[in-house]
Amino acid sequence: MKKHVDLTAAYQPKDFSFRDMSQVAEILSRYPKGKQRSATMPLLDLAQRQVAQDGALANPPYGGWIPRAAMDKIAEIVDVPPIKVYEVATFYSMYNLEPVGKYLVQMCTTTPCMLCGSGDIVKTCEDHLGIHMGESTKDGLFTIVEVECLGACVNAPMVQVNDDYFEDLTPESMKQLLVDLKDGKDVTIGSQKGRRTSMALSGTTTLLDQADKLGVKKAI
Ligand code: FES
Repeated sequence: MKKHVDLTAAYQPKDFSFRDMSQVAEILSRYPKGKQRSATMPLLDLAQRQVAQDGALANPPYGGWIPRAAMDKIAEIVDVPPIKVYEVATFYSMYNLEPVGKYLVQMCTTTPCMLCGSGDIVKTCEDHLGIHMGESTKDGLFTIVEVECLGACVNAPMVQVNDDYFEDLTPESMKQLLVDLKDGKDVTIGSQKGRRTSMALSGTTTLLDQADKLGVKKAI
C-alpha cells in the first residue's frame, strides 16, 4: 500500500513534545553511547501511542499517528537530520503519517486470506461503515486500510485492529466486531471461531493421537 504523506497539511500540529521524558530516556538507554539513532523506531512508536492516548479522549476521537513535528523532535533527540527519521517512518506500514480513526482496521488481502474470503470481509466493512479502503468514518472511529500478509495466514481471513488480531472471520463476525467496537463493548481477540491459537478447528491433535489411530507402537 502506498503511504499517503503530506508534511505541510493543515492537520499537522506546529509542535510536539513527549509527555514523559523518562520513557524517552529509558529508550535511549537501551543503545550504546553514540548509537542513539537506533532509538528512532521505538521513539516513533512512543510518539504514535501518545497521540493515540490524546485521541481517545478527543471529540471526535482519533487514533495514533505521527505528526511531522514529532519526527522533527525525534531527529533532534537522536541527533540526525530530519530526513533520516522521515525515511524510517515512511518505510514501515506500522507508522501512520496522517490522522486515522480510533480503530485502524488493517485488512489483509494477500493470497491465503484472499482464498479464504477476505474479499467478503472487505466488502462487509465497506458496506457497514459506508467508506472505502483508505478512508475514515466521519465520527472518527474507524479507518480501513489494505495491508499485505500479517503472518496469521493459518487463521485466515483476518484483520488487525490497532494492536490486536481478529482471525477466522466471517462477514457476520466482522460486522459484529465493528458494532461491538463502536459500542465500546469487550471483544474477543484472536480466532472468532473459538479455536486456540492455530490449532485444528476440530480440536487439539497430537502426534500420539495420530500414532494411536494408525496403530503405531509407541517407542516408550
Ligand atoms: S495472507 Fe493474510 S495473514 Fe497471511
